[in-house]
Amino acid sequence: MSSLAQKGQFDVSAKELNLSDRSLEIRWSDGKVATFHYLWLRDNCTSGFHPSTQERLFNLTTVSPDIYATEGNFDQTTLSISWSEEAHKSTYQLQWLYENAYSPNFKKPNTSVIVPWGTEILNDMYEVEYNDLMQDDLALFNWLKAVQKSGISYVRNVPCTDEGVTDVANRISFLRQTNFGTVFDVQSKPNPINNAYTSEALPLHIDLINQETPPGYQFLHCLMNDSLGGESTYADGFKIIDELRKTDPKAFHLLTTVTVPMRFHDFETDIRTRKTIINVDENDQLIELRYSPHLVDTFDMDEKIMDRFYLAFRKLMVLINDPRFVVSVKMTPGDLCIFDNRRVMHGRNSYEAGDGYSGVRHLRGCYVDRSDFESRLRVLARTYS
Ligand code: OGA
Ligand code: ZN
Repeated sequence: MSSLAQKGQFDVSAKELNLSDRSLEIRWSDGKVATFHYLWLRDNCTSGFHPSTQERLFNLTTVSPDIYATEGNFDQTTLSISWSEEAHKSTYQLQWLYENAYSPNFKKPNTSVIVPWGTEILNDMYEVEYNDLMQDDLALFNWLKAVQKSGISYVRNVPCTDEGVTDVANRISFLRQTNFGTVFDVQSKPNPINNAYTSEALPLHIDLINQETPPGYQFLHCLMNDSLGGESTYADGFKIIDELRKTDPKAFHLLTTVTVPMRFHDFETDIRTRKTIINVDENDQLIELRYSPHLVDTFDMDEKIMDRFYLAFRKLMVLINDPRFVVSVKMTPGDLCIFDNRRVMHGRNSYEAGDGYSGVRHLRGCYVDRSDFESRLRVLARTYS
């Protein structure tokens, strides 16, 4: 039966309901019109969710692809629908429908809280005291918001114990384990498996780009730093990408579309992935930068684009090292830096180590993934915003 036969107009409290073949349309009292596809409505019927977990139980394949509404009615708060099959009726809160409408004039404005920075961050870096952070949930909430906004912050006076860094990270969530362990010690070691475990300078980089998803937030806690040199460097990858996008859109395009191999290997592991160096979402919003001069593997793209790709990659490298974007800070024991490892690059100057030098440099680090960080923030927002 064609649902056209059922097509009717229902005028409820200055709203209108129109049923068509594949979807229905609601005109709200504010004049906005939203379309809701029948499969979408059936899939979101409240009866299809477990009352306690609120997770979906409904199986979409149990209805036909051309299911349609035979009847629809409003009251003040609710839309009721009778379906063409299963003798099923659904009800929806009008407010829920309004909030979840997906028609163009209901598209949510960009709510990104990210504020890219250059060297001015040095006068403006959000800092928090360890004791406040550990004892006060509001201090934690404000700190997480600040970290999300600028992608970097310092915690001061973190006890210089083995647990200092994990105490701070666990205040947010559980830790991301990697091939370097759940916690790693950054110090000059014999037979190092990675450049970080030497006293060499480390150019600005993102950690573990060779993983399918690099770790989200990184925590580096300074336990000792009395060697000569060893200053930490940081730069906001998103600021740099914005600059690249403006000044060389073709280079930006290549770096968001051409995949390259990324790899870490030692005696026990050989971890590889293949990704683009810049990743954006379907709205062209930045998701992540995957830049690490030491973990990017041998380029193997088509010979027709090798030249253009190298020039684009080199352009990005030049911008990454542009003094407009790089800040340098010497950490002192008790300082802990947190940064969004998929956005903010970190590095360090070389330092003096080994026989004949009295100074020691020792940082201890760990990671918490972005989704776990964001979950903590959302749950705190239920109380504090
Ligand atoms: C690292 C690293 C920075 C530092 O361990 O990945 O970048 O300051 N360390 O030693
Ligand atoms: Zn690193």
